[in-house]
Amino acid sequence: MSGAPVRTQGPGRGGTIKDRSVPGRRAFSFGPLDVPVASVPAEHARATVPGLPEVAEIDVIRHYTRLSQMNYGVDTGAYPLGSCTMKYNPKVAEEVAAFAGFRRAHPLQPDQTMQGALEMLWRLERALCEITGMARATLQPPAGACGEMTGLLIMRAYHAERGSDRAKVLIPDSAHGTNPASVHLGGFGAVPVPSDPRGMVDVDALAKLMGDDVAGLMLTNPNTLGLFEENIVEIAGLVHDAGGLVYYDGANLNAILGRCRPGDMGFDIVHINTHKTFATPHGGGGPGAGPVGVVEELAPYLPTPTVERDGGSGPFFLEHDRPRSIGRLHGFHGNFAVLVRAYAYVFLHGADGLKEVSELSALNTNYLASAIAPDFPLAHPEVRPMHEFVATAKPLKDETGVRAMDVAKRVIDLGFHPSTVYFPLVVEEAMMVEPTETETRETLDAFAGALRRAAAEARATPQLLHDAPVTTPVRRLDEARAARHLKLRWD
Ligand SMILES: Cc1ncc(COP(=O)(O)O)c(C=O)c1O
Repeated sequence: MSGAPVRTQGPGRGGTIKDRSVPGRRAFSFGPLDVPVASVPAEHARATVPGLPEVAEIDVIRHYTRLSQMNYGVDTGAYPLGSCTMKYNPKVAEEVAAFAGFRRAHPLQPDQTMQGALEMLWRLERALCEITGMARATLQPPAGACGEMTGLLIMRAYHAERGSDRAKVLIPDSAHGTNPASVHLGGFGAVPVPSDPRGMVDVDALAKLMGDDVAGLMLTNPNTLGLFEENIVEIAGLVHDAGGLVYYDGANLNAILGRCRPGDMGFDIVHINTHKTFATPHGGGGPGAGPVGVVEELAPYLPTPTVERDGGSGPFFLEHDRPRSIGRLHGFHGNFAVLVRAYAYVFLHGADGLKEVSELSALNTNYLASAIAPDFPLAHPEVRPMHEFVATAKPLKDETGVRAMDVAKRVIDLGFHPSTVYFPLVVEEAMMVEPTETETRETLDAFAGALRRAAAEARATPQLLHDAPVTTPVRRLDEARAARHLKLRWD
């Protein structure tokens, strides 16, 4: 079993769809007009004809099909990206999301005509609360990062109501980049907490940072090194004793599903990345869902509307009138179809199935970590990783001059999407790998084989790795330049 090729397909006709344009050519033909001609009001009419490509249908189809075949996706090969994660999601969730009753529902329908949809949202909220140990949740945020911001706005509202203007939120130095960004958007300043030599939060350093200017702590467990914070109860206690709240970045929830709950660890606010845990495709920044759960005391601040049930057993309805709410985070009910997929995933697995998910994710991770350890040792070998691991290419770099980025580019030539590299920032030559619970042993062996082969090539012919990738439509790109000088238009 190997990954998918990333190659040019078919006769090499590159360029954009505009390069295929021939004046007068059309991809459609309308029948004769059978309604009166209406003219567009002058203020809405274009002054010039847009330069749209003029192509035949078959050219459009072949152009975009060829581009799609040059791409690499989770349906064509393994995607072992650590932290951001792209796991295979069961197609049955897609089928459920496509049920006409869900697909055709309109968010402006009166509540009494969409009882099924509201019940689904309500049941999903209850399930997520059960899984995380929270009291209530909002399903509105459209991504994990938006869930973070929602949680921080709730944190701010909570302190503001107590007349407090606490300005700082503490974040471990291994945290995901969205955490400090969300802290900033929430109106706080981010203060880093150092990790100890084992990759855990340095509890003594945390204690020294605590004070009455600290609004809370943001943490993911297992942390961004894939390691379970053993001192989590003590950590939460330190924050609570100082009057702060503890926020759980639930991006790594698939590691602990059905085994332990953030609420029981002392967390007050939890966001869930449905694309990492519950069957949502992840790509291009969304659309996704980042539901946020909170403890009872914080429920009044949740975004509006919430789904409620009359008298606990009557009809479902949307509650808009919540005076202490932080307000709306998204139009209507968030990304509804994504939530249907999450619902299908949770209820098709059931409690035992979800437990198995976390078991397999940790098993696959440790299997793969062991298979590549002779060439790429774990950054923190003293602690067993959970759902993902961080290895390092530093020994290989010291020996051969080949860096983690070279290895990543070479595995593309060998048929795989590379792992995350250079994150977390606290590990030199980091290679962050999340095999996910859905890959088979054969795929894991093949990916480990590709990494081992790349290491052997680095020792024999390092230039091969410096030049990689060589089989792709474009060679190595300057990624920093691409990010800093965005150019999104084809000239
Ligand atoms: C630890 C962690 N936190 C937060 C996020 C942000 O989630 P999203 O990409 O849905 O905005 C991610 C990315 O998946 C993550 O890995």
